[in-house]
Amino acid sequence: GMGSKLVGCGSAIPSLSISNDNLSKIVETSDEWIAARTGIRNRRVLSGDETLRGLSIQAAKRALEMAQVKPEDVDLVLLCTSTPDDLFGGAAQVLTEVGCTNAFGFDITAACSGFIVGLITATRFIKGGGLQNVLVVGADALSKFVDWTDRGTCILFGDAAGAVLVQFRILQACSADEDGLLGFCVQSDGNGQKHLNAATSNDESILSNTNGVPGFPPKKATYSCIQMNGKEVFRFAVRCVPQSIEKALEEAGLPASSIDWLLLHQANQRIIDAAANRLDIPSDKVISNLANYGNTSAASIPLALDEAVRSGKVKTGDIIAASGFGAGLTWGSAIVKW
Ligand code: ACO
Repeated sequence: GMGSKLVGCGSAIPSLSISNDNLSKIVETSDEWIAARTGIRNRRVLSGDETLRGLSIQAAKRALEMAQVKPEDVDLVLLCTSTPDDLFGGAAQVLTEVGCTNAFGFDITAACSGFIVGLITATRFIKGGGLQNVLVVGADALSKFVDWTDRGTCILFGDAAGAVLVQFRILQACSADEDGLLGFCVQSDGNGQKHLNAATSNDESILSNTNGVPGFPPKKATYSCIQMNGKEVFRFAVRCVPQSIEKALEEAGLPASSIDWLLLHQANQRIIDAAANRLDIPSDKVISNLANYGNTSAASIPLALDEAVRSGKVKTGDIIAASGFGAGLTWGSAIVKW
């Protein structure tokens, strides 16, 4: 049969670090409150001429280096982001600047679930579409859409990019362990959009004269800042994430006890702890780096994975249960063998 395997990872973060104390000078908050309620202490934010595209390119190059795959051998680049530098997406520019001259690419918009959706898309293209190497980049710069006067949201988010290279594998009957993507689950529920969004509004007129056609042309759309009902999102995550991981484990044919690492989207330490608790996974098997980066949306899972792999924590053959959840609402899990 055919399988796919993660063969490299990389990440990149902006240079500017913003601490909880920095934020307490902008809004009424404190390091103690933020750390106790979220586990977050610092976050990185784009500044100067740094761009989402730049971070994505760096992360992608590092993943290719680890995988020892040449850019020209990449067939597909998926840029999982909700905050591209350009409304029309950024995958084409990323693949061109990385040197993936034989690849095509497109963007995937699924907020904090984007990376998991990207992994699933990659493995489908490999198993059903005959591709050899697919680069999945998860990158977001939510800082551009944060209301920095709203203490309920501005404390949570940071910017980053992470990437993995997913590669085709032929599975021999006797070596099924060559397969690295063992089970998936993805779900969506548009009813929850009211709890978490950065919606467009039509508030800029380009022409004041309607030239005789009432209502035409439409006003130019602009995005509003991120609006969130934190308590509802919290409840959603704690309810849906463990169920989603259980479904993905079922597809993989594995029990929860086989998980070596729980790697959740890094939104809030209390969400991570609650999910680990429900799945009966001890805290020494839980990967967490949100203290340093906050919630980096589609980047959080590949960023944490990259740190865990490079520090030697995650080893070849380890089983990782990864789960993303967020705006849409959309959520999904992947059982990965590193
Ligand atoms: N500093 C100090 N006080 C604050 C702050 C702050 N930064 N923010 C809120 N408060 C106050 C509130 O005003 C409220 O005061 P009141 O009791 O006088 O009304 C009190 O603290 C409690 O506020 P809650 O909103 O009830 O606090 P909660 O314990 O729910 O924590 C939080 C808020 C941290 C946002 C939490 O709900 C959460 O993390 N939810 C999940 C959010 C999330 O993960 N979102 C992203 C996921 S998807 C994506 O990534 C796009």
